[in-house]
Amino acid sequence: MRKPVIAGNWKLFKTSAEAVELVKGILPLVTGATNVEIVVAPVFTVLDRVSSVISGSNVNLSAQDCFWEAEGAFTGEISPKMLLDAGCSHVIIGHSERRQYFGETDETVNKKTKAAVAAGLKVLFCIGETLDERESGSTFDVLKRQIAGGLAGVPESDLCSIIVAYEPVWAIGTGKTASDDQAQEAHAFIRGEIKGLYSAAASDAMRVLYGGSVKPENIAGLISRPDIDGALVGGASLKADSFAALVNAAQK
Ligand code: 13P
Repeated sequence: MRKPVIAGNWKLFKTSAEAVELVKGILPLVTGATNVEIVVAPVFTVLDRVSSVISGSNVNLSAQDCFWEAEGAFTGEISPKMLLDAGCSHVIIGHSERRQYFGETDETVNKKTKAAVAAGLKVLFCIGETLDERESGSTFDVLKRQIAGGLAGVPESDLCSIIVAYEPVWAIGTGKTASDDQAQEAHAFIRGEIKGLYSAAASDAMRVLYGGSVKPENIAGLISRPDIDGALVGGASLKADSFAALVNAAQK
């Protein structure tokens, strides 16, 4: 049985006071969600503050990116061991916004993924096709390339530290969710790729999250599908009540 995951990607939102207020609002609403891996991913500058608030709770802390080197002359970067030091257990890698605006490639995603797992972080490994790619019929080719490239050289024994997040770019922040059928189809494909690259056991154990305009109103249909193990949520994670509603829907 795969434990569902509900992860909130706060993107470039929330100052420290706002972040603390949000997470303090979330905590009492999710205490009953014992069977959900709950994750929040604030900006780097508030990780430490949020970490103090969630200490001892069932909410886990994630960063939104990291570099692959542990330390060195790399101005502006942050390393996996520094994220651990700030209280993180998870890190998002390869988000489409990083691929689109900040030059992230399958190769850099791969280096970051390996470094983060080696340091002891769990990776929310993001993949997904653009609208053009979907409309031109290359969705599965893109997913195949992103999985093979991003996970190249990752041994099966490390897959327990990886959670795949399928986020079709056309559904992010657009209010246009993939239908339950479209999402399930992509998730089943992703699981099949993991099976082909690794094993049936690895594929059965892998959590695959959906992301893209997930809201309390559409989570039930998505999560009821056999290959959808939770959600990576942007907009609806920025309010305590909607994020908690997603968590509690996954608990059911
Ligand atoms: P929205 O939920 O705002 O569409 O964002 C999805 C996302 O990018 C989460 O990483």
